[in-house]
Amino acid sequence: MVVNQSNIQKISKNDKGIAEKTDFEKYFTARGQPIKLIGIKQIYEKPEELYWVYSVNFAILHQIMKILFFSAKPYDIATFNQHNANYGFELEYLETHLGPHIVNAVDEGTFAVCVFVNDKLTTEVIEVLADKGVKVIALRCAGFNNVQLAAAKKHGITVCRVPAYSPEAVAEHAVAMLLTLNRKTHKAYNRVREQNFSLNGLLGFNLHGKTVGVIGTGKIGKAFCKIMLGFGCKVWAFDPYKDPGMVAVGVQYSSFDEVLSQSDIISLHCPLTPENHYLINQDSLSLMKQGATLINTSRGALIDTHAVIAGLKTGWLAYLGIDVYEQEDRLFFKDLSGSIIEDDTIQRLMSFPNVLVTGHQAFFTADALSQIAETTLTSIHQISSGITPDEAVIVQI
Ligand SMILES: NC(=O)c1ccc[n+]([C@@H]2O[C@H](COP(=O)([O-])OP(=O)(O)OC[C@H]3O[C@@H](n4cnc5c(N)ncnc54)[C@H](O)[C@@H]3O)[C@@H](O)[C@H]2O)c1
Repeated sequence: MVVNQSNIQKISKNDKGIAEKTDFEKYFTARGQPIKLIGIKQIYEKPEELYWVYSVNFAILHQIMKILFFSAKPYDIATFNQHNANYGFELEYLETHLGPHIVNAVDEGTFAVCVFVNDKLTTEVIEVLADKGVKVIALRCAGFNNVQLAAAKKHGITVCRVPAYSPEAVAEHAVAMLLTLNRKTHKAYNRVREQNFSLNGLLGFNLHGKTVGVIGTGKIGKAFCKIMLGFGCKVWAFDPYKDPGMVAVGVQYSSFDEVLSQSDIISLHCPLTPENHYLINQDSLSLMKQGATLINTSRGALIDTHAVIAGLKTGWLAYLGIDVYEQEDRLFFKDLSGSIIEDDTIQRLMSFPNVLVTGHQAFFTADALSQIAETTLTSIHQISSGITPDEAVIVQI
């Protein structure tokens, strides 16, 4: 909002003769339009009859808008607070996830709710948000399968997301998992701390010269292919859309079955859709080479976990690295170290010496968090200013 001569005159009369920054803010706040003055280029004064009239050449006023965060962790709070210095939103953080149990706690007039992968934006929740005047659902992640878009559309709520946040972060984590498994560094770390410097049982294998199969060569898959090519691997890929840039750097595209049967290492980088639910199942596992390594940093339900466990038990699958798990919403992002975990499947997986599980941390780098915060705040700022954000950011307007 730009303050002009007419509305500034209303607040210009004061005892000191100078309209302080706080006077502007108090004036608008008292009239139900909370603002924060973030910049005045020039204010000058001139006497006129009984009171002072100030002319403001240029002032940028920004209505303070509230963003309420759900599933907020200390690292979210630190990063968003830091980036918000350039935006001036009022930020409030709740650690709980968003769902019917808490939605009534949203204050009237909250402009946006900022949510993550396990928040549940059902029709019922969205209806309450709409009643409270919420205008934006901002996902601080790429996926939006947890939002009932039809309900948001019905109530005129804009849904935005962060379409890409450092694909390299996820690709590098997939490589970290692979290197941990093939060189057994997780075991070596513990062993050396016990003053056990024996090499027995730590025998690894070279990545150089091995064939790596990449399922999905979108943003993350491409970054992964490039790293693997750098290691001197042969890279085969399957994706319904071949990327000419990848072909140019040496990636060989083939059918899904052929990629599985040719590869020593398979890494999944495709989204979860109804078509590729349990893409890795008993049948597709049987197409893989005996002794193959499987890495999944994409979505848990791409893998039929029971079929994979069977493959691990027979030794058909030599190594498994997963950063995602089908039932992860009951486990991941929580400290359950003092709890009894009822999920026997994850317990079985974690008991294998050749399985590495991480808790959906592939995206978790300072670079990616920074990008998530900046994209989210930019989108909310643009929407609040009547500007339509980039197409990729908007899920629904
Ligand atoms: N673990 C994490 O922290 C984390 C973080 C971000 C993303 N992800 C996951 O990574 C996935 C990939 O992300 P992205 O940014 O590269 O997505 P993207 O949209 O850029 O690329 C996905 C690619 O998969 C291809 N694809 C779709 N169905 C396929 C199939 N059945 N077989 C082979 N290829 C198929 C698409 O054509 C596309 O090229 C996401 O869907 C998400 O599930 C995980």
